Amino acid sequence: MLDTLKQHVERLYHQADVELRQAGSSQACEALRVKYLGRNGLLTPLLQQLKDIPADQKAQAGKLINDLKEALQAQLDEATRRVTLVEQEHQLAQEAVDVTLPGRPRTLGRLHPITQTLYELYDIFGHMGFQIYETREVELDEMNFQLLNIPPDHPARDMHDTFYTKTPGVVLRTHTSPGQMHVMRERRPHPIRVVLPGKCYRFEQTDASHEWMFYQLEGLAVGTNVTLADLKGTLTAFVHRCFGQDRKVQFRCSYFPFTEPSMEVAMSDGRGGWLEILGSGMVHPVVLENGGYDPARYSGFAFGMGVDRIAMLKYGIDDIRHFYANDQRFLSQF
Ligand code: FA5
Repeated sequence: MLDTLKQHVERLYHQADVELRQAGSSQACEALRVKYLGRNGLLTPLLQQLKDIPADQKAQAGKLINDLKEALQAQLDEATRRVTLVEQEHQLAQEAVDVTLPGRPRTLGRLHPITQTLYELYDIFGHMGFQIYETREVELDEMNFQLLNIPPDHPARDMHDTFYTKTPGVVLRTHTSPGQMHVMRERRPHPIRVVLPGKCYRFEQTDASHEWMFYQLEGLAVGTNVTLADLKGTLTAFVHRCFGQDRKVQFRCSYFPFTEPSMEVAMSDGRGGWLEILGSGMVHPVVLENGGYDPARYSGFAFGMGVDRIAMLKYGIDDIRHFYANDQRFLSQF
């Protein structure tokens, strides 16, 4: 009985030995572990045979099987170590980095030309004592129009093709002028000197000089002795600092419901022509009053310029739509 068991054990050992030598991967080793040492492995029937072995041979038989189990385990460990090493080397070789290859160039991001222009304008007006004040893009109709002296049926509304929201009385601001009301109501009764930058929206057909979304920079100065001469001086200084001392500035009569008198400002284009760049005027008494300033004591000037148009003039861009087309070939020139 013991001899038969011995033969069986040896056969099993040799069979496992051959198979483990051939095992080429850690999965194959694991499969062999299950085949020989697993719960339903080839060693299990041997253990079951133990109960039929005469008592005086049981200890010897038990030792035989136990030795086989330990030998198989050792063989398995060795085979697993061997194939794992090969696998790791293979993986390292595959993931190897060729440090002699040239690096990939990293392109540096840059500020959008409109942002660059805005920063330039902040700098110019900052030197003249203007603070930057940002207000909301989604506005009440009341702020965008009514408090600026544009009641619901006023013809001036036709010039602002407004985007209305689903909420009655709420619009996308068509200009930065409603910001005047926010500043005045927040600062009253103190003097004001601010510029208000931001996006504006108009439901317009786009062309080379019109977008449905564009930037404006509003200016507002309120005090006890602010005059039209201050407005003209400020805007002339702005044109000279932004475009050069040789530019001439022309003030033309105009009309805005929220300023009285109102002026459009044009500058010489250097080729004998004139370019209109902004709207401006003295803050209308009704607007001052709506803002909480007594028009008998306070006066103010305001202006609103198209930042995109300023950028077009500065950089010689012939179509406003280039700014928002996200074409890297265009943007990377700035
Ligand atoms: C206004 O929006 C007034 N709020 C300006 C103002 C402020 C006057 C304070 C008086 C006092 P206007 O609609 O003209 O005015 O627009 C001012 C500037 O915004 C224009 O000169 C132009 O440069 C720019 N602009 C207007 N519509 C567009 C558009 N669709 N695309 C690009 N720029 C535009």
